[in-house]
Amino acid sequence: MVNKIVIEDLCLTYAEGNESLRHIHLQIPANAITVLFGPAGGGKSSLLRCINRLNDLTDIRLLQGKILMDGQNILDPKTDVIALRRKVGMVFARPVVLPFSIRGNLTYGLELAGEKRKSRLDEAVERSLRLAALWDEVKDRLDDPAVALSGGQQQRLCLARVLANQPEVILLDEPTSGLDPISTGKVEAALQELKQQYTIVLVPHSVQQAARTADYAAFFLQGELIEYGPGKELFTNPKQKRTEDYVEGRFG
Ligand SMILES: Nc1ncnc2c1ncn2[C@@H]1O[C@H](COP(=O)(O)OP(=O)(O)OP(=O)(O)O)[C@@H](O)[C@H]1O
Ligand SMILES: [Mg+2]
Repeated sequence: MVNKIVIEDLCLTYAEGNESLRHIHLQIPANAITVLFGPAGGGKSSLLRCINRLNDLTDIRLLQGKILMDGQNILDPKTDVIALRRKVGMVFARPVVLPFSIRGNLTYGLELAGEKRKSRLDEAVERSLRLAALWDEVKDRLDDPAVALSGGQQQRLCLARVLANQPEVILLDEPTSGLDPISTGKVEAALQELKQQYTIVLVPHSVQQAARTADYAAFFLQGELIEYGPGKELFTNPKQKRTEDYVEGRFG
């Protein structure tokens, strides 16, 4: 098992409020789904945003510790943040499609990066749609506006857009919170395929989804990482009382 990301003693305090992440140590393996779960306000989204430096856009009082990706500390001020965000794609709870065609949503990033060759762009469109388990549903209408897709299809298009940029890490923050069970199942199935090639960090929208998807799971409570381990162990035989109480639905 190779650790793609190693988080060392990460602390985060926003300009407003108390510590949002307290001395987090976490190892995120490649080719697996690592789930960050726990009740509201635990720091899950904050941690995801640190991993692709989205917190750069927020007022922060204190950020210390390291996030090593392939051994390099991405919190180092010298990090090329644009390159980092290409390598570390993010999918949010609400799909935000661009006001273009389905195809245009997928080629936009590549064209910005200078790719002009039609064959390369077509290849990327098909590859990313297949990976996101959307190809069969949209292959005959790639020039239709993306906003005409259903919510579940739009969410998979957002995943495909991230994949079109050939990332190494995919961060997903409650990607299925607005989706019906069938669309949710399709996204989860796509993630199971994708983990063979990518490092996936998922904040699930429920404990059930956490238990279904986690190869590794980390339980967050009020800015602290309470327990971390293989999903199977953590959900069937948690070591900490607070993990057990949460997993069994005694608080939420
Ligand atoms: N931009 C911000 N400015 C100030 N405080 C923030 C900001 N974003 C988050 N926080 C605070 O940091 C803490 C952790 O929030 P975060 O959104 O990371 O939690 P979460 O685990 O993702 O919760 P949820 O399950 O509700 O999405 C909370 O106390 C929250 O109020
Ligand atoms: Mg959140």
